[in-house]
Amino acid sequence: MKERTYVMLKPDGVRKHLLLEVIKRFEQNNLMITNLKEMKLTEELIHEHYAHVSDKPFFPKLEEYMLSGPVIAMIIEGEDAVNRVRKLMGPTNCKEALPGTIRGDYGNKDDENCRTYNVIHGSDSVENAEIEVNRFFPELKEENKSLKKTIR
Ligand code: CMP
Repeated sequence: MKERTYVMLKPDGVRKHLLLEVIKRFEQNNLMITNLKEMKLTEELIHEHYAHVSDKPFFPKLEEYMLSGPVIAMIIEGEDAVNRVRKLMGPTNCKEALPGTIRGDYGNKDDENCRTYNVIHGSDSVENAEIEVNRFFPELKEENKSLKKTIR
């Protein structure tokens, strides 16, 4: 089924200049980048996005990391996009990620915090993808609204 998903190149991915490599991997797999923007996350957005892990001991490090530089936010569309993007990324823990996956090739496997500093994020379900698209691209909702107004 055709789906869309939310992908975010995290600050270490941006610092490693991985944007073109990541886009290439998605496009070569027939996944289309429909929206892309650079943004600096706020504490508020980080707390909202990571609410499900905010009580975990690793959260302060995760927050510091996500505030350490800009991210690239993307919406990606295609058949079975949520699962296919996650396969291309590899598992959360870079140490478990196989060569050929983004985390396997570019994660810092020597870092004990490899699970936190893991280069890239992709939504874990179609439901969360919609929530995350709306969270990181709120302007699209507004655009749609104003488009409707114009049409009427
Ligand atoms: P992501 O999939 O973007 O969303 C949750 C994030 O929490 C995850 O990436 C990691 O950066 C981080 N994370 C998840 N599990 C752990 C863990 N066990 N230890 C450290 N960081 C984690």
